Amino acid sequence: MARDPRYDILFEPLKFGPLTLKNRFYQVPHCNGLGSGLPYSHAAMRGVKAEGGWAAVCTEILSIHPSSDSTPYPQVKLWDSDDERSLRLLTDAVHEHGAYAGAELAHGGFAVANRYTREHILSPMDIPSRRDPVQARAMDKADIREYRRWHRRAALRAKEVGFDIVYVYAADDLELLQFFLSRRRNQRTDEYGGSLENRTRLLREVIEDTKDAVGDTCAVVVRLTIDELSGPDGIVAADEGRDIVAMLAELPDAWDVKVSGWSNDSETSRFKKEGYQEPYAAYIKSVTTKPVIGTGRFTSPDTMVGQLRRGILDVIGAARPSIADPFLPRKVEEGRLEDIRECIGCNICVATYNNASPINCTQNPTIGEEYKRGWHPERYKPAGSSDAVLVVGSGPAGLECAQALGRRGYEVHLAEATRVLGGRVTRESKLHGLGEWARVRDWRVGQIEQMANVSVYRESAMTADDVIAMEIPNVVLATGSTWRRDGFGRRNHKPIPADIDARILTPDDIMDGRSVEGSVLVFDDDDYYMGGVLAETLRRRGHAVTLVTPSALVSAWTVNTLEQEKIQRQILEAGIDVVTSHNLTAVRAGEVDLACTFTGRGRTVAADNVLMVTARLPNSGLYAELADAREAGQAPGLRSLVRIGDCIAPAAIVHAVFSGRRAAEQLDEAATDILSFRTEPLATDRPAPLSGVRPVRLLAAE
Ligand SMILES: Cc1cc2nc3c(=O)[nH]c(=O)nc-3n(C[C@H](O)[C@H](O)[C@H](O)COP(=O)(O)O)c2cc1C
Ligand code: SF4
Repeated sequence: MARDPRYDILFEPLKFGPLTLKNRFYQVPHCNGLGSGLPYSHAAMRGVKAEGGWAAVCTEILSIHPSSDSTPYPQVKLWDSDDERSLRLLTDAVHEHGAYAGAELAHGGFAVANRYTREHILSPMDIPSRRDPVQARAMDKADIREYRRWHRRAALRAKEVGFDIVYVYAADDLELLQFFLSRRRNQRTDEYGGSLENRTRLLREVIEDTKDAVGDTCAVVVRLTIDELSGPDGIVAADEGRDIVAMLAELPDAWDVKVSGWSNDSETSRFKKEGYQEPYAAYIKSVTTKPVIGTGRFTSPDTMVGQLRRGILDVIGAARPSIADPFLPRKVEEGRLEDIRECIGCNICVATYNNASPINCTQNPTIGEEYKRGWHPERYKPAGSSDAVLVVGSGPAGLECAQALGRRGYEVHLAEATRVLGGRVTRESKLHGLGEWARVRDWRVGQIEQMANVSVYRESAMTADDVIAMEIPNVVLATGSTWRRDGFGRRNHKPIPADIDARILTPDDIMDGRSVEGSVLVFDDDDYYMGGVLAETLRRRGHAVTLVTPSALVSAWTVNTLEQEKIQRQILEAGIDVVTSHNLTAVRAGEVDLACTFTGRGRTVAADNVLMVTARLPNSGLYAELADAREAGQAPGLRSLVRIGDCIAPAAIVHAVFSGRRAAEQLDEAATDILSFRTEPLATDRPAPLSGVRPVRLLAAE
């Protein structure tokens, strides 16, 4: 199909320093947990994005020196020739598909802890580290000269390795250059502190150094925080944010602007909608003639066109939309808008990085698996020796499995017990703040509807006899899970004592629309989003709500998705009583007993209802019956029987989608007892001799 002319503007080439971007789609820097340790995986992941049509594909933060070591987070380094070799894989993979490769040179200042290299942490001023019981030391003039030398050397290395775009990075509240800019991080009294002109001095010098070093062939882009969202002590868009850009307006080849810290930049859909950074970026084009890149979880080409036409941005930057759909630009170009797999704004991609592991995405189960398993977001291997598959259950696992099997070319029968498809995604997306999560269902249903070889049967609850009678050789069960009512969970490995007349609810009751009267005590032993979301949902319906959790924080795991502080603030502001570090020990009609998780000291709290958000039980009855029937020889035609998603082990939606994809990829594959994926080859044949290790010239002052 041809591209809709409405979107032509997105495909207009753009002069970009010494380069010309082929279109306006630009994958801005993003971490992925693959790091220098998994260079083949990293290169393959970026290569697929280039194949998907992005004009530029950038790395994440690339550490320029051992004094910026983000251990335990997987990092990409540009320290030595091994790093150059591994990054060459990446630039080759990106160039193969006609995209530019961008390197985000970075020094984390006091935001890193240098746990691996054990170097001193550096900062504009003496200040405690964010994590460890150590302090950063204030950089003196010699340190600043050294830092500029490292940055220049890294820029030259990046060019040598084949990067086309070299970043000067001053953003995310994670970067030395931003710390120099911000008056709350820089209280120096020399020419690098004090006035804005002084605080901008180092950024100016580094841009000039980088232009001088590589500007003949590479575009030099500044990534800048234009608002720290920390009040007048920090950088404010309408004030110093604008002034910094105005002072340096024509120096770099392009500006890539955003807000910080990371939780404000990578906002989830629970808190912000598409285009949320516009109010901060809106003035930038009025103070520079250079191309302006910006972000805001852009997944709609109409919104993107609006940003360009209204003169907000010249280039559409995307991190998460490019993770959820690496082929977004190609789909717009080919007029296949309905095929765009839109990011749902859940930040699982961020959570995997924050947990120091390779990237996962709820919408795109292939991200990070391109090299490891040979998966591709758009291409599927052909069907194996079987013809037909029955998938029972249309939640995220069942839908993903059915669509992937359909793409492989199998005859797929998808049976759903209810009238509506989507399972838990449909139910959960009706809860407060989770509306965009329905995209998990919508994209998959949209794909399935395009495939003549996939049949969907609604209102088709299946018994074991029904399944056997269909005589389909492969059966995949995706029958989901049910929330427990007995209190068994993460902290309580036996049921919580409850009187017979106590009113106990589960998340399923709320999602099923069961009527609730009176006050509700939400006992959140799950720690992810469900307890907090239900507390808010009930409060909005007018109930008095108390949220009790054994954790020290509300929705504690959402620290990983960058949402925790926002969730706790919103819950407190909604008038929900919060009791942290308390377990639930007994439930009676109208009241419960709580115990402090530290002292065991008890107290009794009134509550008309108790909502248990603790654990789930897999709906595995159908599987057990079919497995027994097969064991007893009563299902002779049943060649394969597998369970996927929550009905094998309840988890998050991301795990269900992955599980569905894996079952689809593995159908008709011979099982292995070793590894179902490939690992990375060793970086070097043998260790370098210790005698070759010399003290690195780190800091002139040492
Ligand atoms: C998983 C993940 C990792 C990120 N890592 C970086 C990074 O290394 N450097 C950086 O400048 N920004 C990083 N970001 C921020 C993004 O570049 C981007 O500014 C932000 O996510 C907003 O864009 P989006 O709405 O298109 O995701 C990261 C974002 C995500 C989601
Ligand atoms: S994990 Fe969630 S937020 Fe991240 S890219 Fe995927 S869908 Fe978007």
